Amino acid sequence: MLYVAAIATMMLFGCSNSNNKAVDNNQPQTSEAVSFDEVLATRRSVRSYDATKTISEAEVRELLIATQEAPSWANQQPSKYYVAMSPEKVEAVANLVGERNKQNIAGVPVLIVSTYEKGKSGFFRGEQTNEVGDGWGAYDNGLSNAYFILKARSKGFDTLIMGMRDSDALRTLFNIPENETVMAVISLGYRASEPRQPEHRPLEEVVRFF
Ligand SMILES: Cc1cc2nc3c(=O)[nH]c(=O)nc-3n(C[C@H](O)[C@H](O)[C@H](O)COP(=O)(O)O)c2cc1C
Repeated sequence: MLYVAAIATMMLFGCSNSNNKAVDNNQPQTSEAVSFDEVLATRRSVRSYDATKTISEAEVRELLIATQEAPSWANQQPSKYYVAMSPEKVEAVANLVGERNKQNIAGVPVLIVSTYEKGKSGFFRGEQTNEVGDGWGAYDNGLSNAYFILKARSKGFDTLIMGMRDSDALRTLFNIPENETVMAVISLGYRASEPRQPEHRPLEEVVRFF
């Protein structure tokens, strides 16, 4: 069973190498086929982008297709994506993520707004199923975004999830309907320098085995 899951994961991320070898976090991974462990270890929030490199719509589509493999509440698939690729639209979105984020994503070729449809995940026949309610939509959206950023890394791209953004202005810019909650803006590009390695809380602090 575990073996099947491992194979499925490798297929999903286009892996050719199942070795659990040590990963050099300082090396940008730009090859077409990298191991899942390398994807996890080299995916970082990137806050400096190479403005000379572009990304095609076909490449973005491939990443979005990967999000369709993500699990969701009763297969509701509530996540939606609004993709800014033209320089004008990218600039318009960049103006809505706050000054610090705007500086950090300067030169990035693609910006994506992620939303989820309300009243789907966590609901059955219009009734809220438990206390989490639309929180399950946000949960599914995060899962979907995770597939996106990991698939992106597996293809040599870099991302930054931004929760600091002007949701009302984004709603107007993309004509996003009121039944969708605007979540993160995700930048997609190529790193210009090596990202900072964040500190991680010790496992003992966040996990309890019973
Ligand atoms: C929901 C969410 C919102 C975030 N918002 C921002 C943001 O507005 N600006 C930013 O620079 N980083 C943002 N981040 C990135 C986090 O700071 C980053 O994931 C964390 O520090 C761990 O670093 P790593 O992604 O490199 O592992 C956000 C991440 C998440 C998941």
